Amino acid sequence: MQFVIADTYESVSAQAAQELISFVNESPYCVLGLATGSTPLGMYSKLVEAYHAGEVSFENVTTFNLDEYWGIDPANSQSYRHYMDEHFFNLVNIDKNRTSLPQSQGVLPQVACNSYDELIFEAGGIDFQLLGLGNNGHIGFNEPAPNFPVGTHLVDLAPSTIQANSRLFSCADEVPRQAITMGIGTIMHARKVVVLVSGAGKAEIVVKAFEGPVVPEVPASILQLHPHVEVILDRAAASQLSLA
Ligand code: F6R
Repeated sequence: MQFVIADTYESVSAQAAQELISFVNESPYCVLGLATGSTPLGMYSKLVEAYHAGEVSFENVTTFNLDEYWGIDPANSQSYRHYMDEHFFNLVNIDKNRTSLPQSQGVLPQVACNSYDELIFEAGGIDFQLLGLGNNGHIGFNEPAPNFPVGTHLVDLAPSTIQANSRLFSCADEVPRQAITMGIGTIMHARKVVVLVSGAGKAEIVVKAFEGPVVPEVPASILQLHPHVEVILDRAAASQLSLA
């Protein structure tokens, strides 16, 4: 596990964007695993800038997002499909037919989960997986649990996740209670994983996840066992790490 400690959120975003741009330039047909949330917003805006500056093309990449709220209409402004379109897909030359998020309605959850796993398998798995870190240690929406779920599955969101995500809704009651998320097994099969973390509020969970025991109660701790993980974090998020 490699740590890159940047001074600010701005430099976390710049470093992450640079890593992803280099990766896409070296492997234009790669499969990217993408995340939503507040943390990658700065990185997406830098990717868009780089695309307009002619530094990268997303024409041939395939993408799979980590997760989507269950039951939400993809056209709803709170859906993760909407987030991705608004912050990235609509602003670069990506082929939207090669961008996937878990299906969020219209089928049984198990069908949506199985077909997402099949799509990822048919694409050859994830080459570069981007992750954020939840306040409770979740990655994707793999919440603290008695075990590490392998494949895509339906989850009941933890009360702390509903609370954290309520900032994006008019009230906590509007936050969907369930989501479909890629499993830990799929994330661990990605060839390279880059985790972005920012802010003092994440300092405690950073230590638990990356210096504590590998336990499913802290889902991100499993990343300690992955051979190619890079954690890019700002000084505030790194402040309790023993190496910082
Ligand atoms: C988002 C996702 C989540 C977030 C995590 C951190 O697709 O899978 O695991 O990465 O909740 O969210 P922020 O960045 O908003 O703190």
